[in-house]
Amino acid sequence: MKLSLDTRDLSEVRADAIIVGRHADEAKLTSALAAVDKKLGGLLSKVLAAEKFEGKPGQVSHVHTDGRLRAARVLVAGLGPRKGSTAEAVRRAASAAARRARDLGARSAAAYLAAGGVSARARAQATVEGAQLGTYRFDKYLKEKSPKSLDALAVIEPERRSQAAAGEGMRAGEIWAAAACLARDLVNEPANVVTPAYLARRAQEIARAGHLGLKVLERADCAKLGMGAYVGVAQGSEKPPKFIHLTYKPKGRARKRVAVIGKGITFDSGGLDLKPADGMYRMKDDMSGAAAVLGLFQALPKLALPIEVHGLIAATENMPSGTAQRPGDVVRAMNGLTIEIGNTDAEGRLTLADALAYAAKEIKPDEMLDLATLTGAVVIALGMGLSGVFATDDGLAGRVLGAAEAAGEKMWRMPLHDEYKEGLKSDIADLNNISSQRGGGAIVAGLFMRDFTGGLPWAHLDIAGTAFTERELPLGPKGGTGVGVRTVLAYLSALGGKR
Ligand code: BES
Ligand code: MN
Ligand code: ZN
Repeated sequence: MKLSLDTRDLSEVRADAIIVGRHADEAKLTSALAAVDKKLGGLLSKVLAAEKFEGKPGQVSHVHTDGRLRAARVLVAGLGPRKGSTAEAVRRAASAAARRARDLGARSAAAYLAAGGVSARARAQATVEGAQLGTYRFDKYLKEKSPKSLDALAVIEPERRSQAAAGEGMRAGEIWAAAACLARDLVNEPANVVTPAYLARRAQEIARAGHLGLKVLERADCAKLGMGAYVGVAQGSEKPPKFIHLTYKPKGRARKRVAVIGKGITFDSGGLDLKPADGMYRMKDDMSGAAAVLGLFQALPKLALPIEVHGLIAATENMPSGTAQRPGDVVRAMNGLTIEIGNTDAEGRLTLADALAYAAKEIKPDEMLDLATLTGAVVIALGMGLSGVFATDDGLAGRVLGAAEAAGEKMWRMPLHDEYKEGLKSDIADLNNISSQRGGGAIVAGLFMRDFTGGLPWAHLDIAGTAFTERELPLGPKGGTGVGVRTVLAYLSALGGKR
């Protein structure tokens, strides 16, 4: 989608469609809309009244201008109530209207989505994010692709003193949305394409393009480092594991050093503790955390944040075979702890244990963050609309939740309830990878991983319910959501003093 800034008044803008926001509690048309309505001889106000347009979030009405305006169509998009409105209202309005414009056959659109209390920069960023995320499609394997696509979007900002800020916001929005869409693509690609080696290749492309550091450790390297938990998961697959370590270093002094770890199980069959068919079907999405990390690193060099960021992905399949890890096996992780394999389907925490231990030992960052489709239990607890946030540090938890709020990604803090650690005891090893007690599975998984963080401040995002959607959402179609990418970008931007 080609982006531009349009500095003309709404009624002068030339495009296949202009998109204008409207709050729910506004009795009169705003002056910008009133001017458009006047040129249309009152048609717009008539249509809005006839359709009972209420300005609800996501609601869109449209009229064809029949040559009475430079734009061929006018779309009015609901922004919800004016009081307490946020960037998310703009994002959702932009998404709904961009979809409508595209479906009406428009190839270009220009949007003016002024929401009460949202700055020009935030509005421009949210407009671009909403339009790009909302019109995202994954159609590369379809013979018949839709001929309709929105190829150009202008953000309208007639206010001269806000134009520089709007330009900055647009640029950020473009980078953030592209990063989330990269993550979506990687999740939507099937597991016969996205293998550990494929993720490593994509990491290499991203590193080359962005002048990033990249280390890819092979199976033998990982074994030598003592990553027995990760290597144990990988031993059942024909596909060699790849441990990916990306590094972004700012030009000047880094204000902080952060490690971001993504669960990278390219297919989770469960291993010898094989999943039933229903539970296995969607398990190509078990690398959604890794996809988020790759999206993040595509964005980082373009944003020039003053934070040093390390991205880690312990990529592997989890497969059953004659060489697969057995229930009851004991492995030793990189930090020396031994783990009895109570269930080979609790593989994510094993791979993440070694990624966390590697980060704590080899990187020693100020903070660690991981994103993982870790447990079915978090889906039971929070459903498909919220990611679970577990953290050993309240300040870090607050910053992550604040970033999620700013990004419009819904997250909820969960407790690392110490008493449940009891259930992870093993008779023959330091830990078991599953609990002997019932319930609280998402918490138990978090407690397990905490033992590998070396006491560093750590936040864990369980995105099992939110990484993939079976129904269309306000900001995207069915499939991979790219969740986490924009939250982590908002978190790092805030650390860097940028919003
Ligand atoms: N990848 C799954 C978790 C998952 C479940 C993600 C549903 C997305 C949707 C994970 O590896 C897993 O299998 N977890 C088990 C753990 C259990 C064996 C303790 C689970 O949640 O059932
Ligand atoms: Mn599993
Ligand atoms: Zn898994």
